[in-house]
Amino acid sequence: MARLEKRVAIVTGAGSGIGEATAEVLARAGASVVVTDINVSAAEQTANVIQQRGQQALALEQDVTSQTQWDSVFAAARDHFGPVSGLVNNAGVSGAGKDRLEEDVGLDAWRSIMSINLDAVHLGCRKAIQEMKVNGGSIVNISSIMGLVGGAGPAYNASKGGVRLLSKSVAVHCGKMGYPIRCNSIHPGYIWTPMVRNIVESLEDVSNEEELHEMLLALHPVGRLGQPSDIANGVSFLLSDESSFVTGSELVIDGGYTSV
Ligand SMILES: NC(=O)c1ccc[n+]([C@@H]2O[C@H](COP(=O)([O-])OP(=O)(O)OC[C@H]3O[C@@H](n4cnc5c(N)ncnc54)[C@H](O)[C@@H]3O)[C@@H](O)[C@H]2O)c1
Repeated sequence: MARLEKRVAIVTGAGSGIGEATAEVLARAGASVVVTDINVSAAEQTANVIQQRGQQALALEQDVTSQTQWDSVFAAARDHFGPVSGLVNNAGVSGAGKDRLEEDVGLDAWRSIMSINLDAVHLGCRKAIQEMKVNGGSIVNISSIMGLVGGAGPAYNASKGGVRLLSKSVAVHCGKMGYPIRCNSIHPGYIWTPMVRNIVESLEDVSNEEELHEMLLALHPVGRLGQPSDIANGVSFLLSDESSFVTGSELVIDGGYTSV
């Protein structure tokens, strides 16, 4: 039997990068995947690729910061595929550029990053617990190495650190309540996605993507940057029964970045 057969999983921000690869890997492992993104045409593209392989996907428009849209996404998932048993809170923004300096970052920019990277993860976990507390499930929250160490921007670091502890809080709560729900965070190193490629615009000491790639590569002892599939494979493990004793943990997939 395939690893995720009979599972229904929602992946947010699945129109690009890590979310896109995650949706594809989960579908290949047998899951029915609900592919959501604020950019609905990108979500549809991801779902089309999965469907063309004969696997199950449904594309939905979702702004993860909207509580009512979480209700409608879970309802549509349930109507289309049955009860949801997996949630991947992946959608996020980097807050590069002027938001990198603590002495400069304005409250509006701070709140905008927090609302997508942290508030929305709370909304997703809250809804997933309501929906999965009887039949069970697994929640995976995409944090970052920047949720473990400093060095990005203050709001990004704070939001990703918040995701780390929110995940542990959810794990402990579900355990105490006897809900058969596990919750874990993943901490990717640099993965060469549009989010990372766009950082080049905000760095003064780097003038093009090749230089950025070289600079980032030097920070990863394994000698390469990550691929979206490196993270997707970790998500697949955490959604599956192979990780049934894993909850409240932080899976660091960073090519050694935080070991230096
Ligand atoms: N790429 C990396 O190096 C890296 C490292 C650590 C953590 N992460 C985290 O991984 C996740 C995915 O990053 P990525 O590199 O694939 O980025 P990406 O920019 O390629 O994809 C992010 C997706 O999220 C969507 N999105 C943005 N705001 C949204 C909203 N309000 N509602 C719904 N969707 C929204 C975008 O449309 C986009 O499709 C993010 O949470 C990011 O912080 C990335």
